[in-house]
Amino acid sequence: MLTDSFNRKIDYLRLSLTDRCNLRCVYCMPKDMTSFGPREEMLSDAEILKLLSCFAQLGISKIRITGGEPLVREGIVSLVREISGIRGIQDISLSTNGLLLDKMALDLTRAGLKRVNISLDSLNAEKFNQITRYGKLETVLSAIESALSAGLAPVKLNVVVARGMNDDEIADFVKLTKKNPLHVRFIELMPMGETGFFSKEKWVSMNEILQKAQPLEEMEKEDWPRGEGPARYFRRPGARGTIGVISALSCGFCSSCNRMRLSSQGVLVPCLDAAEGTDLKALLRSGTSSRELKEAILFTVQQKPERHHMLEKAAVNSSNPRQMCQIGG
Ligand code: GTP
Ligand code: 5AD
Ligand code: SF4
Repeated sequence: MLTDSFNRKIDYLRLSLTDRCNLRCVYCMPKDMTSFGPREEMLSDAEILKLLSCFAQLGISKIRITGGEPLVREGIVSLVREISGIRGIQDISLSTNGLLLDKMALDLTRAGLKRVNISLDSLNAEKFNQITRYGKLETVLSAIESALSAGLAPVKLNVVVARGMNDDEIADFVKLTKKNPLHVRFIELMPMGETGFFSKEKWVSMNEILQKAQPLEEMEKEDWPRGEGPARYFRRPGARGTIGVISALSCGFCSSCNRMRLSSQGVLVPCLDAAEGTDLKALLRSGTSSRELKEAILFTVQQKPERHHMLEKAAVNSSNPRQMCQIGG
C-alpha cells in the first residue's frame, strides 16, 4: 500500500493525456491560450504504459484520464484498452468536456472505460457557448445520452459555479436529477492559471450552493455514486440522480486526499497546488530502470503537502500560476 507522510492512502492517479483542448472555458484558459507544451515533449503511449505499470506495482489501482481535453488525443481508445490490461488497475474513469464523446462512448466502454465525468456549466445554449467560448450545448447533451446508453456508470456532470455566470441555474441543474440517473456535482471555483477570471466576488461557497439547491437530504456514504474523489453527496427526495458538492477551494477534503497527478509532459505532481514535481519523462528517456522510476515516484509521494494553499491566494485575488489543463483538473 502506498501512503504519504501524513499517512494518507494514495491509490488514485490523475493522468493528463494532453494539455490541449477544443474549448476555452472562461475560468480555465485564456481565449488566446497558446502556451501549450511542445508535442515531442508529451509522453508517448508506450511511456505512459511503462510508467503506469510502475504506479500499479506501487499500489495505484484507479486511473482518471484527464486533460486538457483527453479525447483530442489520437489513439485514446487503444490506450484505454492497454491501460485496462495493466495488472492491478481496477478502475479507469474519464473527465471530459463531452464534445467528442458522442461517437466514442461505446468504443471507450468496450476498451475498458468504466465511468465518465462530463463538464456542463450551463443548461442555456447561449450561456453555454459564452462560458466555453466555442461549445455547443446540444453536442454535450447528446454525449450524455450516449454515455448512458453505452453503459458508462455513473455519469457525473461537473458544474463549476461562479456568481453572475451560472449561480442562477443551480435549481435547474437539481431538477435534471429528478428523472435522470445523473449525478450533478457543483464545484467551487478555484483561482487557477492566468485567466483573469477568478475574484472573491465571483466565488460561491459550498454552503451557498447547498442553500440554493434545497430541499436536499444528505446521503449515507454507502449510497453515494461510485467515485474516488472529493465530492459529498445529497439527494432531492424521490430523485433518480444525486447532487454532489466539491469544496475545491474551502478544502474540505485535503485530509483524505488519495491522489497524485501525472502531467501530459511526464511531470509527477503531488498536489493540485504544488509548484514543483518530478520529471519522470526525463528519467524515463535517460534509460532509468523501473526500480529507480518507482523510487522517484515514492519520493514524490512523500512530498505531498498536508493541504493546498489556494484559499490564501484567493483572499488576495492571486492565482496558482499553473493552468488547470497542465495539471489535469
Ligand atoms: P470521482 O469522484 O472518482 O468521480 O473523481 P473526481 O470527482 O475527483 O474527478 P473530476 O475530474 O470530475 O474532478 C472534479 C473536480 O474536483 C475537478 O475539476 C477539480 O475542480 C476538483 N478536484 C479534483 N481533485 C482535486 C484536488 O485534489 N484538489 C482540489 N482542490 N480539487 C480537486
Ligand atoms: N476551478 C474549478 N474547477 C475547474 N475546472 C477547470 N478550471 C477550474 C477552476 N478554475 C474543472 C472543469 C472540469 C475539471 C476537469 O476541472 O470544469 O470539470
Ligand atoms: Fe477545456 Fe475543460 Fe478547461 Fe473547458 S475546463 S477549457 S473543457 S480543459
